Amino acid sequence: MRRRSGATCHSLTLCLLFLLTAAVTAGREKNSSSASLFWSTAKEEEDLLRKTEPNDDSSAPSVVSDPDQLDGGFSSLDGMLQWAIGHSDPAKLKESAQDVQRLSPSELKKRQMEIKELMEKLKMPSDAQLMQIAIDDLNNSSLSLEDRHRALQELLILVEPIDNANDLSKLGGFAVLVQEFNHPDTDIRKVSAWILGKASQNNPFVQKQVLDLGALSKLMKMVKSSFVEEAVKALYAVSALIRNNVAGQELFYAEAGDLMLQDILSNSSIDIRLRRKAVFLVADLAECQLENMHKVELPFFSNRLFLKSVVDLTASTDLDLQEKALVAIKNLLQHRTVEALVLKDFCGLDTALERLRQQLRDLMLEEYQRDYAMDLEALRKEVELVFHTRLGMGTKVPT
Ligand SMILES: *[C@@H]1O[C@H](CO)[C@@H](O)[C@H](O)[C@H]1NC(C)=O
Ligand SMILES: *[C@@H]1O[C@H](CO)[C@@H](O)[C@H](O)[C@H]1NC(C)=O
Ligand SMILES: *[C@@H]1O[C@H](CO)[C@@H](O)[C@H](O)[C@H]1NC(C)=O
Ligand SMILES: *[C@@H]1O[C@H](CO)[C@@H](O)[C@H](O)[C@H]1NC(C)=O
Repeated sequence: MRRRSGATCHSLTLCLLFLLTAAVTAGREKNSSSASLFWSTAKEEEDLLRKTEPNDDSSAPSVVSDPDQLDGGFSSLDGMLQWAIGHSDPAKLKESAQDVQRLSPSELKKRQMEIKELMEKLKMPSDAQLMQIAIDDLNNSSLSLEDRHRALQELLILVEPIDNANDLSKLGGFAVLVQEFNHPDTDIRKVSAWILGKASQNNPFVQKQVLDLGALSKLMKMVKSSFVEEAVKALYAVSALIRNNVAGQELFYAEAGDLMLQDILSNSSIDIRLRRKAVFLVADLAECQLENMHKVELPFFSNRLFLKSVVDLTASTDLDLQEKALVAIKNLLQHRTVEALVLKDFCGLDTALERLRQQLRDLMLEEYQRDYAMDLEALRKEVELVFHTRLGMGTKVPT
């Protein structure tokens, strides 16, 4: 099992999953109750699938979300099957799928038992074992670049379920991945950051392990990479590491994370995905700061230039970026240190909101944009209301 051959499925688990699924589909056509047997033997895979199901990327971005939560690994069962098919011998697969369809219910049942026995005999490797192989490979400096890529792609998939992410930590996988940040190949660095981001997402245990390895400052340097894909995944990982994590955020500010964000927000030649992620992170940090009731307000929230760079994003031509900027402004307006007058006089928020109102009014006339434009207008109005309330109240925060 050490060296996997490139021509067929990468992992036995996935190959079997595909075959089982084909069998289940065929079984359902004949007798629905007989199908369940398969799944009981493939429980782990079922769990894995449930957790990899996408956060529904309904392409109308009416709900603000970080797009990286959606990409990577398999976004659906279908995606996983496509992948498995792509890595299998097509002739053999077709043959076995046809075989399964020809079976009668009793034959099918017999076949199920055979597969079950076979699986037990084969001792299907657990996800933890597969991760161990990938880590050992990565930790081998003489591994070929191709095999290194393959090991990383496998980890990218395996790390999705939260239990696996925790196991990867116990296997020492994160230290190995952080080493990969120094690899000369940009794709290796990119996928390593991506895996760390995925594993850290909503996982305080992993966040701590990864932060303790000193990954944050390395990732922040990668955000400045001239290779856009690397920068995008690095910023994704930075967000995942510090999200709802006070220790991570303190480290982020200590490393001048606020300046990093401001540089991205204020530079319109920077890739739009980076800018969206940056403003999404600002909104998130502002919200987190409120929830944690920090006694000390972050000085960067009262930095005029910083605030202006956020307000200026509302003049972008990218609706998604505009929406994320509105959410950020709304959250920032909840902060005592953010002065409404500064937003008005220095940042021109009044003018910006009015310009946006007109833009959205025009967009609503276009059928295909209408719903989204209406959602955005509702959000814009909400920001306007909070803003004017704050203006009327001087420096006090609305209650
Ligand atoms: C479906 O399977 C059950 C139990 O396996 C069996 O009792 C039943 O007769 C089957 N029905 C059909 C339509 O094959
Ligand atoms: C490291 O990789 C090389 C090339 O794939 C292989 O020959 C060697 O056995 C590996 N070393 C270890 C310790 O696995
Ligand atoms: C990686 O290899 C080194 C020796 O080259 C070893 O000390 C270390 O424990 C290995 N790390 C993991 C996570 O296997
Ligand atoms: C803006 O970003 C571009 C592309 O990353 C970079 O070349 C340029 O130096 C940046 N401008 C400023 C003022 O930082």
